[in-house]
Amino acid sequence: MNLIGKIALVTGSSRGIGKAIAVEFARRGADVVVNYRRTPEGAEEAVKQIEALGRRAIAVSANMASPEEIEQLFAVIGREFGGLDILVCNAAAGLQTKLADAPLKAWDLAMNVNARSYLLCAQRAFPMMTARGGGRIMALTANNAVERAFPNYGTVAASKAVINVLTVYLAAEFGPHNIIVNAISPGMVATEALAYFEFGAEARRRGEARTPSGRITTTDDVAHLAAFLASDEAHQINGQIIEIDGGYTRLFH
Ligand SMILES: NC(=O)c1ccc[n+]([C@@H]2O[C@H](COP(=O)([O-])OP(=O)(O)OC[C@H]3O[C@@H](n4cnc5c(N)ncnc54)[C@H](OP(=O)(O)O)[C@@H]3O)[C@@H](O)[C@H]2O)c1
Repeated sequence: MNLIGKIALVTGSSRGIGKAIAVEFARRGADVVVNYRRTPEGAEEAVKQIEALGRRAIAVSANMASPEEIEQLFAVIGREFGGLDILVCNAAAGLQTKLADAPLKAWDLAMNVNARSYLLCAQRAFPMMTARGGGRIMALTANNAVERAFPNYGTVAASKAVINVLTVYLAAEFGPHNIIVNAISPGMVATEALAYFEFGAEARRRGEARTPSGRITTTDDVAHLAAFLASDEAHQINGQIIEIDGGYTRLFH
């Protein structure tokens, strides 16, 4: 219960990793703003689970591709909660395409939803966090696919590379204000996103067969890491891209 009294926003927390993080934060005492775009029933389910843990939660629809909707989301947080301590930029979208054929909308979707929203949310979180003496920001990246070519993932991987760079610079700029910024890079996690990728089933099979720790990463594994990074104990971990993959990326392929 080390997040008591904290207010957290988790973007894209209507399912998958984001939902697990939102519920884990609540389990440790935080009130949570559940953001979603297309799955209100998933967001409502997350809210119910958080409320069952005795914490406060609201579901707010906001498309991370829209600067106006991000602005409105933070206005709701200010009005309803009066501040923000923890921001998790987890929402992600992308189109599977080869770079040679990639339409402009594939680039714009990945860059706007995944990368630009991180900057915009961090900019809006900054004054709210400094007003409360500091805060925690983290984003979900996919370092495995930034450093190696995952089939048809080029535009999304480029947006994740931007997330990695923003993490370094936000950590340097926000650190003196006691706002700690990191990125979490999970290995294969069996969510809807993995099922959506053509190569997802094969990636999962390889992960299950080869991961040194004996299994692929779960949403709860990632949520536990996020909760630790949100805690006071993690203050000195700043500007890092933290891999959580059971050692998979340490293998020679
Ligand atoms: N799964 C993996 O193996 C894996 C590996 C490495 C990194 N990651 C990263 O971890 C994060 C979560 O992945 P996941 O597997 O849990 O994904 P997921 O199951 O596809 O869930 C994505 C979440 O993002 C939300 N979302 C999508 N587009 C949005 C938009 N435009 N505005 C606001 N919310 C939006 C979705 O909400 P709605 O349904 O309501 O639209 C959903 O809650 C992503 O950043 C992903 O890149 C995942």
